Amino acid sequence: MAYLKQQRPEKVTVPSLRLSKERGERLVCLTAYDYPTARIVDEAGTDIILVGDSVGNVVLGYENTVPVTLDEMVHHTRAVRRGVERALLVADMPYGSYHTGADDAARAALRLIKEAGAEAVKLEGGKSRAEVVRRLVAEEIPVVGHIGLTPQSVHKLGGFRLQGKTSDAARALLEDAKALEAAGACAVVLEVIPREIARLITQSISIPTIGIGAGADCDAQVLVLHDLVGLSFGKSPRFVRAYANLRETMTDAISRFNEDVRTGIYPAETESYALPPDAAAELTADSGVTANTDAEIESS
Ligand code: KIV
Repeated sequence: MAYLKQQRPEKVTVPSLRLSKERGERLVCLTAYDYPTARIVDEAGTDIILVGDSVGNVVLGYENTVPVTLDEMVHHTRAVRRGVERALLVADMPYGSYHTGADDAARAALRLIKEAGAEAVKLEGGKSRAEVVRRLVAEEIPVVGHIGLTPQSVHKLGGFRLQGKTSDAARALLEDAKALEAAGACAVVLEVIPREIARLITQSISIPTIGIGAGADCDAQVLVLHDLVGLSFGKSPRFVRAYANLRETMTDAISRFNEDVRTGIYPAETESYALPPDAAAELTADSGVTANTDAEIESS
């Protein structure tokens, strides 16, 4: 997939997000939670890599994102940082890390930037978070907003469902997006809202919108990597398009390995190492056990 890098090889930065919107260039964002997935996503030419707090349910086996800690986000972001060269690296601020005041929020965000290597942080909420966003931006920390279905509010929302279904709710979402823009956010995620509202928001603000379940008119699209490659469990929401079935591919590979070990097919002689002939001869003389002398020692 190197050709994608050749087409748009320049590093994606916070200022370049707005330029891309002005030029009408669609951006692509995917999650990554560790070094190998970060390298693959970056090398495939993805513009923004999000270390989402979805790491909680996707990788750590939590029921939702609520239990994810700041230490866990720092740990995963550091791993992703080592695998990313071109994409803009955004890390989620976990639930509880920005809810107790702007000072606590700044301390948490600084860890993600300074210790973990993120280039921007993302937090959930609109108007009610504008003050925190303003504070972080004042501390030189780029912030991505996130409105609509905000998974950290799962208990308040009563589940994961479409947001903004009434005209009042739609107006509130537009106000939220404008409040985030005014507070200095560099982009805003729109999650699971009707496409008409996403289009209106996208046309009404100058920062890029990053849609997930929000229709085709957003400036960027984001998906959870594990959903895209078919490495997740349970029923996927309608906006997920799986381009591969890695769960099936992995299950098949592991089952064949298990079978080969149990039947003695693995490892073959070419997958193991032999003694050098003189050592084999000595061993045979000492022990009476015949050592294999014909294989060469492989360097790898
Ligand atoms: O945590 C996450 O993966 C996210 C995306 C779904 C936007 O917030």
